[in-house]
Amino acid sequence: MSPKDKKKKRKKTMAEKADPLDLYLKSVQEPSVEVKFFQRAFKKEYGRQPALLREDFCGTAAICYQWVKKHPERRALGVDIDPVPLAWGLDNLTEKLTKEEVGRVKLMQEDVRHISEEKADVLAAQNFSFWIFKTRAALVEYFKAAHDNLAEQGVFVTDMMGGSEVYQDETEETTKKKGFTYVWEQAHFNPITSDAQFYIHFRFKDGSELTRAFEYDWRLWTIPEVVEAMTEAGFKRVDVYWEDEDEDGEGTGVFRVRKHASADAAWIAYVVGVK
Ligand SMILES: C[S@@+](CC[C@H](N)C(=O)[O-])C[C@H]1O[C@@H](n2cnc3c(N)ncnc32)[C@H](O)[C@@H]1O
Repeated sequence: MSPKDKKKKRKKTMAEKADPLDLYLKSVQEPSVEVKFFQRAFKKEYGRQPALLREDFCGTAAICYQWVKKHPERRALGVDIDPVPLAWGLDNLTEKLTKEEVGRVKLMQEDVRHISEEKADVLAAQNFSFWIFKTRAALVEYFKAAHDNLAEQGVFVTDMMGGSEVYQDETEETTKKKGFTYVWEQAHFNPITSDAQFYIHFRFKDGSELTRAFEYDWRLWTIPEVVEAMTEAGFKRVDVYWEDEDEDGEGTGVFRVRKHASADAAWIAYVVGVK
């Protein structure tokens, strides 16, 4: 390459240099919060600490790594069909873990409906991932597999979002992060099928954008539909954990079992099946 050619070489934009999975983790996931909730939900039911976590749709397995780091006798199984995030997590999330801790995480590149020999105390499916199952039959089939993948004493932890704002087309929510802006786009909701299309974009201060870094084609299930499907799949009880609000109506991050809730425009809740 001549010096002239070198000069001509265009500088990469911030979007071109960005690592989508790194930005995703900084925007979307809080593994320590999730792990605390899993412990609480299990202990509330069985009065002891859980040991084996199975994280379905684990992506980078960030929650699995947090799980084993918190206790020397804990193990985790991370299940995802895509080898890319699994490998990324192993390369990027294990720096602060000892070799022994990493050894207590088993990554499985499998479909979540795969039945494993090891039965978990807590089976988690986070960030609405099970919404890829769009029919009731497919949903119940997955919940039956989740039931089979749990020990005799076990809890199945899922999360849900909803509220009137979710049933809209073309809305965008932006959140400023260190060095970038996280954008959650609700592109389309089809009231006839309840199918919904969402995208995650990342914007940078040099004006560049990582457009559609992640995309989701989901069915927007409701809480009662999910409770009924879990019950049909064999769970003896299904609890809905709703978030407490402060005096200004803001979520406090504390979730409690509730039978009634107010019709918030946007909410996130946990739905927990007890085996
Ligand atoms: C929305 S991401 C969730 C990642 C992570 N659980 C989180 O909370 O951020 C969904 C993940 O599910 C995986 N996935 C989709 N279908 C799957 C299937 N049938 N079996 C296993 N993993 C699947 C995708 O590869 C992707 O990593």
